Amino acid sequence: MAYYTQLGEVPSKRHIQFRRPDGALYSEEVFGTEGFVGPTSTIYHIHPPTQVAGWTKLYSTKPQYVEQDVMRMRHLKTFNRTPAGDPVTGRVVLLGNADVEMSLCIPAEPMDYHFKNGQGDECIFIHFGSGTLHTTFGTLAFGPKDYIIIPKGTIYKMAFDNAPDDAPPNRFVCFETCNTSHILPPPRYLSRKTSQFLEHAPYCERDLRLPKLPLTVDEAGDYEVRIKARDSVHSYTYDYHPLDVVGWDGCYYPYCFNIDDFSPIVGKHHMPPPTHQTFEGHNFVICSFCPRMLDFHPKAIAVPYNHSNLDSDEVLYYVEGNYKARKGIEVASVSLHPQGIPHGPHPGTVEKSIGATWTDELAVMCDTFRPLHPTKEALACDDPDYPQSWADWKPDASGQAQDGHRPNTWN
Ligand SMILES: [Fe+2]
Repeated sequence: MAYYTQLGEVPSKRHIQFRRPDGALYSEEVFGTEGFVGPTSTIYHIHPPTQVAGWTKLYSTKPQYVEQDVMRMRHLKTFNRTPAGDPVTGRVVLLGNADVEMSLCIPAEPMDYHFKNGQGDECIFIHFGSGTLHTTFGTLAFGPKDYIIIPKGTIYKMAFDNAPDDAPPNRFVCFETCNTSHILPPPRYLSRKTSQFLEHAPYCERDLRLPKLPLTVDEAGDYEVRIKARDSVHSYTYDYHPLDVVGWDGCYYPYCFNIDDFSPIVGKHHMPPPTHQTFEGHNFVICSFCPRMLDFHPKAIAVPYNHSNLDSDEVLYYVEGNYKARKGIEVASVSLHPQGIPHGPHPGTVEKSIGATWTDELAVMCDTFRPLHPTKEALACDDPDYPQSWADWKPDASGQAQDGHRPNTWN
């Protein structure tokens, strides 16, 4: 994150003696990025973080992309996927490239180990479920529609609460950097002098939920930390609990942001996707399409114009809302609109949008500057008829929107 905070106990200066109650020194760890000139935190451990007892490579995480030379629109229907694995092993990459990987996880079992992604930042979007993220930097309670930003190197265990019998299974989407960049708010939202969120930003510091106490676990034993690096997960063994931090300070830590706390920017005429931007990494952005008032020009067309986003592939994950205006789209659908071919409203939806004043849509979008490739798991739930779904257009003379019609504006 961009701004300074601290939790727990830290000494009055960096790099000075800071002692445990038994007189021994705490172990200071500078947790830095970008060659120590990027966001950094300083962490104080009870035990030296370098003490590991053993390691072994467990499994490869390298996505196997298919149809890399095929350019076509896709619609992945993910709602009925079967729960599998834990919140790490259950992640199934659907789309990705050299910059970012998008995975879906419907965990079936708890993690009985801690995990560190030493390869990239993670932006997790919780669709269904709640629980607790236990991290190096403290505890984060999470719930439905939370984004959780977990920066590279954070050790954590993700513990879901048991879902009620009548609720959908716990489910999240994960965007993970694989180009060494970090997932941060767009720089244009932040003051160049203080890193404070500016007045025009659609969210600010008060919307971010930072790690809280409890922070420290002081226990000896054999603890497994699985570390992802080099497209592989390794198992390391610590002889003390890996969350043995008594305090930290700095600008590098995980946090939560609920999508309902995003304050959409509306306009007299249709506002373009960058107004919905929430985060970015190098070569990709993440946007939030939230319920909001629609355009207020007396002759406004609320749904988007047909558009070619010539330098971007566009992925939408549909969270909730009225999907009737979009052929075949359902909760947990994923659409991919690649650069190279225009897309836009489905037949009949333009006329029906006229006069509407509100949208209930809720969707998470990821735009990438390099083409996205599907995996075979994506093809397994792909709707091959989706690219044809615009084909049966005919003029709709129905005129004004019917009462209660609430169009979706993602496209
Ligand atoms: Fe689009």
